[in-house]
Amino acid sequence: MISQDATIRDIAVERPGATAVFRRHKIDFCGDGGASLWQAALQRGLSVSELQAELNDLAAGHGDLPADPDGLISHIISRYHDVHMAELPEALRLARRVEAVHRAKADCPHGLADHLALIFDELQGHQHKEEAVLFPMMLQGGAPMIRFPIARMLAEHVDVGEQLDELARLTTDFTPPEGACTTWRALYEMCRKLDEDLREHMHIENNILFPKFV
Ligand SMILES: [Fe+2]
Ligand SMILES: [Fe+2]
Repeated sequence: MISQDATIRDIAVERPGATAVFRRHKIDFCGDGGASLWQAALQRGLSVSELQAELNDLAAGHGDLPADPDGLISHIISRYHDVHMAELPEALRLARRVEAVHRAKADCPHGLADHLALIFDELQGHQHKEEAVLFPMMLQGGAPMIRFPIARMLAEHVDVGEQLDELARLTTDFTPPEGACTTWRALYEMCRKLDEDLREHMHIENNILFPKFV
């Protein structure tokens, strides 16, 4: 039974599937996450008891996430780092095409390709720091100074969250306009998946992996 005083962060960690519920209700779980369930419900104008019931229907436990840091790190790299790097260039290609073909339309997502290029660029640097510096330190069992790279990564995750907010703005919440072509629809679907994957990725690092070392 989930308490109304439990924090969003704790619920996201303890209930697999809770992040999908939070995403649906636009409750931030990967950034701050420190609000209690009742505070978050109040902020979003939702019924706290309905939200609580929805979360209680989810099975308890950690889901399929590996419990040990080594397994968790390999999971993060293969399920998130590699997937973002494979999918972002394709989204960027589609965005360039949509912006070129539909540039005269009022609802054309002007600036989307440049924004995806920025996300790709910054994420590449961020993930490189994790894979070359932070994760190897963790695999060696951690050290007192590990709090510095962790603090840096947390700050960069805040920037990524802001970039995702801008992505949602540019794509009117990942909703293509009436009558949009297949490329346009596919592009927005890729952006929606990127948003989902990146938020889940940062949640696992912020709330599950990093706390094992600080
Ligand atoms: Fe990462
Ligand atoms: Fe990260």
